[in-house]
Amino acid sequence: MTVPEIRKTAVIGTGVMGADIAFGFAMAGYDVTGVDVESAQLDIAAKKISVNCQQLIDEGIFSEKQIGEINSRISLSLDWDEAVGNADYVTEAVAELMTLKKAVFKKCDEICRKDVVIASNTSSMSVTEFASEMKYPQRAISTHWIIPAHLSPIVEVVCGEETSTATKKLVFDLLTKIGKKPVSCKDSPGFIHNYVQFAMVKAALDLVERKIARPEDIDAVIRNGFGLRLSSVGPIQFVDMCGLDTILNIQKYMYGITNDPVYQPSRSIEKRVDNGDLGVKTGQGFYDYSENASEAFGEQTNRGIIKMRKALKQI
Ligand SMILES: NC(=O)c1ccc[n+]([C@@H]2O[C@H](COP(=O)([O-])OP(=O)(O)OC[C@H]3O[C@@H](n4cnc5c(N)ncnc54)[C@H](O)[C@@H]3O)[C@@H](O)[C@H]2O)c1
Repeated sequence: MTVPEIRKTAVIGTGVMGADIAFGFAMAGYDVTGVDVESAQLDIAAKKISVNCQQLIDEGIFSEKQIGEINSRISLSLDWDEAVGNADYVTEAVAELMTLKKAVFKKCDEICRKDVVIASNTSSMSVTEFASEMKYPQRAISTHWIIPAHLSPIVEVVCGEETSTATKKLVFDLLTKIGKKPVSCKDSPGFIHNYVQFAMVKAALDLVERKIARPEDIDAVIRNGFGLRLSSVGPIQFVDMCGLDTILNIQKYMYGITNDPVYQPSRSIEKRVDNGDLGVKTGQGFYDYSENASEAFGEQTNRGIIKMRKALKQI
């Protein structure tokens, strides 16, 4: 199978993610069938899709005519065998339960043509394990779309032990074609996105449970603090920007008091600090800032935040 040969796509499970993933394929010009086992879920998906359509019209992204064309490419169905069995590319978005995903992958393996890629939208689980009962595990892969799926550009791509190079290439090519930014990650729990995001969520809930701050104040601090900066500066860039010596001092102080491994000084930082590599201020941290890169980086950060605050009408 090659990308130009893909015409019909199927999404299994039309819940929170499946409806938007189906919408994403339709926005990119693909015929897509969203299939579920509950007719009530199909009704909810239809409503969700209609809200997506209205928002994109209101925001001037698509005209009514274009939205009509997008809608005409989406079908919602309870007929699993017809929708999945005739698809050229399948995305699985059923609940995050290993036994369910394993059964769905096995069924896809039985009814799909053997060159059809089966991609899971799992947030955290191992594709090697989903694919363990498949006859053709080389076509199993994970593509973790980020909520809201039709709008978020990143898709994490995770190969299992048996995933073929051809499957990985096809998935990268297809996701790029539909306007996504695929990023590769090893088959490790939570991948990149949820390994980091869930550490933050756990810390925020911990503050609520210990009554350190109110939920609305925690959300306000994160949204307007590092949340505002995150679209221009990632966490590793943040360490370089802040200064590795400063980060290390904070880790030492917090670990000394809490004894929580999350704050334990990081070996990767200690090593660089010993070497005198303190980030942007010395020209070398996790990234290389020689040849004026530090100014370019500062420019990227500040302008990114200015643009974001302007968009949010904060300045
Ligand atoms: N909710 C999120 O924010 C989010 C974000 C990224 C990834 N994910 C992942 O996406 C997947 C789906 O999550 P969700 O939040 O959309 O779940 P959900 O519970 O909202 O939807 C799951 C849907 O699958 C359907 N279903 C169950 N068994 C089925 C079967 N055998 N065949 C067809 N449909 C079936 C259910 O009826 C339901 O409509 C999970 O793996 C989850 O971890 C979720």
